[in-house]
Amino acid sequence: MSRILLVGGGGREDAVARRILESGGELFSALKNRNPSIIGMSKSHFIVDELDHSKITDFAVKNKVDLAFIGPDPVLDTPLAEELSSKGILVASPSRSAARLETSKSYMRDLLTRHSIPGNIFSRLFREKAELESFLSKENREFAVKPIGLTGGKGVKVMGVHLQNVSQALDYGKEILEKDGEVLLEERIQGEEFSLQVFTDGNRIAPTPLAQDFKRAYEHDEGPNTGGMGSITDSNGLLPFIPQKSFDFALLVMQKIAASMKTDGNPFRGIMYGQFMETTDGPKVVEVNARFADPESLNILSLFKGDFVELLFSMAEGNLKTNFDFEQSASVLKYVVPKGYGTKPVAGTLEIDLKSIAPDIMLYYAAVSGTKEKVEMSTSRSLALVGIAPTIEEASERVEQNLKFIRGEYYLRHDIGSRQMMEEKMRNFSRA
Ligand code: GLY
Repeated sequence: MSRILLVGGGGREDAVARRILESGGELFSALKNRNPSIIGMSKSHFIVDELDHSKITDFAVKNKVDLAFIGPDPVLDTPLAEELSSKGILVASPSRSAARLETSKSYMRDLLTRHSIPGNIFSRLFREKAELESFLSKENREFAVKPIGLTGGKGVKVMGVHLQNVSQALDYGKEILEKDGEVLLEERIQGEEFSLQVFTDGNRIAPTPLAQDFKRAYEHDEGPNTGGMGSITDSNGLLPFIPQKSFDFALLVMQKIAASMKTDGNPFRGIMYGQFMETTDGPKVVEVNARFADPESLNILSLFKGDFVELLFSMAEGNLKTNFDFEQSASVLKYVVPKGYGTKPVAGTLEIDLKSIAPDIMLYYAAVSGTKEKVEMSTSRSLALVGIAPTIEEASERVEQNLKFIRGEYYLRHDIGSRQMMEEKMRNFSRA
């Protein structure tokens, strides 16, 4: 039986842990919270600061693990993958250097530019306030103002959305410059966003169904950005408002990224997650991440059919196996979060009537502790409910029907995947 180290204690890692167990793996987990689901599945667990790579390496060595999988992005920005490899442990996640695809937005834009990878957009890095000021004062276009590094999905501000004018954009740019010494401006693009997650061994890539996540805290995509309030996938692996040719284009972009990183001597192994925007000029690259998306990975892991452990080994060994598949159903995920999430979250307790939750609902535990029946929320996302059904609208409804089995003070976006939302998206799509 393969011994697998899983780093991370959120909803994404709960979904990964379940697929590992179903494929016959033995789980060893390193996590900062007492996630009752992950701990319950683990042969051994280690509550630790997830950034403490030395302690996690010692835990892996002591437990003689064969392979490691890293969930959270901040952990990819430590030398953990390299340290584990140096101890002879296979790693199905990118090295710190390859993870720069996500941890440095300027590395990603530079890679796309140097290798003429399609889907790129105008971007420019600034290190001087005066230069930023002079540039913004001459431009008529709107920009997204971005820190270079990781921000948990909450650091990007867009002119016309979060920044009302050039002066606010300049102030925010200066704030980032003072903190980080550099700031990235990217041309503002508009349209429907979609996520394409792929498995890669550095040479070949294998796609998963397209997904869309909902980052804004409130219904109708209003309010502050969050880590993600929910996500949808459709039964044919596309989205009703994203055509096959856009999927093909996005896959080509991901293939070219993997090939370019190999050419540059910085090969990428693991899960690569491209965030694209469907514009009137075709799909454009918004971001490329070096891990499973959260929440979108919970949709695709709930639909996954195959030997997940074999897939992890094949990525780590450079011999990607593609003998897996996805259930041809739609899925809708809605995150239960503490009230005030996105601004001033208030952590409480949730009681879950596990026996009553329908078998077609996958319930994953995120940044919580306690027991599976009574969880202590933190100020982050708490529970993910994934409904699986023939259509997105039905999957959304399945989640709604099961909410009565969760008691406590919480917030959730009911609109995700609803008939009204999908009809509105289709109206916009047919107008475009
Ligand atoms: N889907 C948002 C993220 O994983 O960063």
